[in-house]
Amino acid sequence: MIEIKIFTETDKEFVELARIDNLVNHDSIDHPDDDKNSWQIRDKSIIRDRLLLYDKNILIGAIYYSQGRDENNRTFFYTLNLDPAYNHKGYRYLLYSKMLEKVKKFNCNMVHTSIYEHPNYKEHKKLLIKEGFKLVQTNREYSCDLRKVDVRKYYPLIKKLESEDIKFYDSKEEIASDIKKFPNHFKKLEELEWITEQDIPIPDDISHTRMPFKHWLKLCHDFYKNSYGIHLIAIKNNKYLGATDIHVYPKSEPHKGWTGSIGVLKEFRRKGVATALKIKAIEKLLEKGVTEIRTDNEENNPMYKINVALGFKPVPFSLDYSKKI
Ligand SMILES: CC(C)(COP(=O)(O)OP(=O)(O)OC[C@H]1O[C@@H](n2cnc3c(N)ncnc32)[C@H](O)[C@@H]1OP(=O)(O)O)[C@@H](O)C(=O)NCCC(=O)NCCS
Repeated sequence: MIEIKIFTETDKEFVELARIDNLVNHDSIDHPDDDKNSWQIRDKSIIRDRLLLYDKNILIGAIYYSQGRDENNRTFFYTLNLDPAYNHKGYRYLLYSKMLEKVKKFNCNMVHTSIYEHPNYKEHKKLLIKEGFKLVQTNREYSCDLRKVDVRKYYPLIKKLESEDIKFYDSKEEIASDIKKFPNHFKKLEELEWITEQDIPIPDDISHTRMPFKHWLKLCHDFYKNSYGIHLIAIKNNKYLGATDIHVYPKSEPHKGWTGSIGVLKEFRRKGVATALKIKAIEKLLEKGVTEIRTDNEENNPMYKINVALGFKPVPFSLDYSKKI
């Protein structure tokens, strides 16, 4: 018997959900502990939930949905994964339409999702097209074998920046452990990230929103504890001017880093700061045994030139779709 059940946050559900996700994931591995952790530290002021699809009590699919913050509070972002053995039975539509029923009660007027240009997402893409979703953004995705990056080539650049008093620090290992030397560290870092984040292209129908500082800090401490790759900051005379964060999940893929973001203040751009942040990050990650970085950018973001120059290779694009309801 096919039935949809609500999510009750049990360990068994987290394990089973990771199993389903890993049937669909094409270049990442989910670990139930990471999912459980991210669920436990979620911002509870935002609606976030899941619906689980069972065939005779065996999990065969799930839809995850989450409300946007502030101006985006009528938008819901979702991820839909189904065991491919159950393709062509209308089960994606079943989960999707059940989610619509739920989110409409919260005044939702737009739904948004992302898929990859990869065969594992073909059936979901068909559903999106049938339901009248619009492609609102295309993102380049890349992977880099860090062992092949010619870091030495960039030493003169780093030297030049350092001679202009632009210094690079590891936020967890050099700053957070010596916080007296860096007053207001986390406030300054959050502010820098908020300023640069607003220049990251996102679909027209979504706004950039700022997380409350308290929640940002909670996520930052969790990152330092559970998935720290590197959080590098460029500082000139106490001014925080650029940063990048790379996450590593030791339980699932200890040799792989996932770029969170990279940003440089407008007045310091085109000096090679982003390139230097990447090189410094690559060196530190190699020391920790990380050999690959995955990253993505909106297709026209100039960041792609930096990635290509460093030797990042393209992997399947990701595609953002949305629909007004
Ligand atoms: C993307 C970003 C991080 C680049 O930072 P940066 O310090 O200016 O980058 P670099 O100086 O290292 O640039 C290296 C090369 O990349 C290319 N590049 C960088 N910015 C460019 C731009 N706006 N237009 C065209 N090419 C650009 C150039 O080839 C440049 O070399 P050049 O200056 O010798 O021509 C910065 O523009 C930014 O913070 N943008 C907003 C946040 C964002 O979009 N982040 C990326 C997605 S997470």
